[in-house]
Amino acid sequence: KEACSCSGRQTYHDDMAKTLYTEADISKRVVELGRQIAQDYEGKAPLVLGVLKGSFMFFSDLVRAVEPCPRGLTMDFIRASSYGSGTESSGDVKLKTDLKREKVEGRHVLLVEDIVDTALTITTVIRHLQECGAASVAVATLLDKHERRRLPYRPEYVGFVCPNEFVVGYGLDFDEEYRSLPYIGVLKPECYAHLGLDGAEPDGSGDSGD
Ligand code: XMP
Ligand code: MG
Repeated sequence: KEACSCSGRQTYHDDMAKTLYTEADISKRVVELGRQIAQDYEGKAPLVLGVLKGSFMFFSDLVRAVEPCPRGLTMDFIRASSYGSGTESSGDVKLKTDLKREKVEGRHVLLVEDIVDTALTITTVIRHLQECGAASVAVATLLDKHERRRLPYRPEYVGFVCPNEFVVGYGLDFDEEYRSLPYIGVLKPECYAHLGLDGAEPDGSGDSGD
């Protein structure tokens, strides 16, 4: 790939066209979600399962916000990637995990995602957990880009309904960059113009699912 044309911009902050959710917006919403989840999972010893990599920051903030913390809450991770061409997820979602069936069987699983877009990824993960014998499977996603659904699906816990724009920060990446930003925003078009996508979603890295 050619060098990025972002010359003159020194930091990731300089690449952002706008901020959609500030650090304060996110932490306020995460506290609300955490309280709701604590109430709903009281006495259920939930298995909180992060979908890597994008959810790592939301996951770590959310589990600390699940207060009062239900006894028996444990955590694990699963990695999901979908290999697509161009701007669409192919729907060929690959899961990677060392989570054993016996760790899932009979458990109330709460999946933690960064964003639900077409819903191809999350529905594949849900199906896998159901096949492993989970007692229940629910999803907490920070962002819900529901305009782009290719399957009818509604997550149980949503941080924000997200406009149909490609977003980065707070775990979300573009080609592995921008994950560390503490807020969520939209990139300046020139930051992905060098990929020749003509303003299409910057999803061209081939691996869009984590
Ligand atoms: P699907 O379409 O399967 O997508 O619901 C879920 C995965 O696609 C990635 N995705 C994004 N990543 N900014 C990102 O950084 C976005 O705007 C975006 N939309 C989708 C993400 O990895 C998610 O888990
Ligand atoms: Mg993801």
